Amino acid sequence: MSLNQPRKPIRKAVFPVAGLGTRFLPATKAIPKEMLPVIDRPLIQYAVDEAREAGIEQLIFVTGRGKTAIVEHFDTAYELEHTMSGRGKQLDVLDATRIQPGNLVTVRQQVPMGLGHAIWCARAVVGDEPFAIFLPDEMMVGSPGCMKQMVDAYNEVGGNLISVLEVPREEVSSYGVIAPGAKVSDSLTEVTGLVEKPKTEDAPSNLIISGRYILQPEVMRTLESQDKGAGGEIQLTDAMARMIGQQPFHAVKFDGRRFDCGSKVGFVEATLSLALERPDMADEVRAIMRRLLAEG
Ligand code: G1P
Repeated sequence: MSLNQPRKPIRKAVFPVAGLGTRFLPATKAIPKEMLPVIDRPLIQYAVDEAREAGIEQLIFVTGRGKTAIVEHFDTAYELEHTMSGRGKQLDVLDATRIQPGNLVTVRQQVPMGLGHAIWCARAVVGDEPFAIFLPDEMMVGSPGCMKQMVDAYNEVGGNLISVLEVPREEVSSYGVIAPGAKVSDSLTEVTGLVEKPKTEDAPSNLIISGRYILQPEVMRTLESQDKGAGGEIQLTDAMARMIGQQPFHAVKFDGRRFDCGSKVGFVEATLSLALERPDMADEVRAIMRRLLAEG
């Protein structure tokens, strides 16, 4: 692919949201973990906002049983809106939940067989164009957002891109890890290898895949083989690894902050951190935090 060739735009994004969210039980018994709020927006909303900022039009949710609240969240709530307007209340608080008709698609992953399998479930909707993937557990806060930074890099180098970040060596075995190649710029590096959840001593680096991807549609054909990898699951990382050498593959170091909202501590960190940045609550929250810390 030449550097000057126009890129096919990234119009579609896949959000794998079929997971059971067992780490947050009992909170997630009756509601999807993606609907847990960080302050006043559910986790999924942050990922969708990031997608839209990056120019993505179509949202493809890979869902499972008990996940309808996610789809409801992005639907018109007629009774709510009618009642609110009747009381003279502003509806702009709901603006972020509005999706253009036809731009929200759901596909079902009937059995949890891994991230690669979840993405493959969206193959017919993705079709023959490059697409983005968002793992909503990973909350990326920055300006521009993570996906916008990736789309900008994609417009330069094309091919496949993943966002990466550095973690302490002893944490790499919880993630996909890259083998970095030549540096293109401060934030952009070639990827020469990928391995899912390696042992610390086998990890090619301490740069982990952090839940944002721009991939070419060929990955769906690679996933077709349904080969199982780490944890006996069909791994996206393995399918991507097989594309290295066939197509350009780069890692983008996100200039911003990442919160691991798949963990309870990460969730609390995200909540506190965002609260301290909100003009409507920062002072009060800071005072409360000071008092709590003083009380020990
Ligand atoms: C998934 C991916 C892994 C990535 C991680 C980011 O793992 O398989 O490569 O580093 O998300 O959160 P999971 O968290 O589903 O085990």
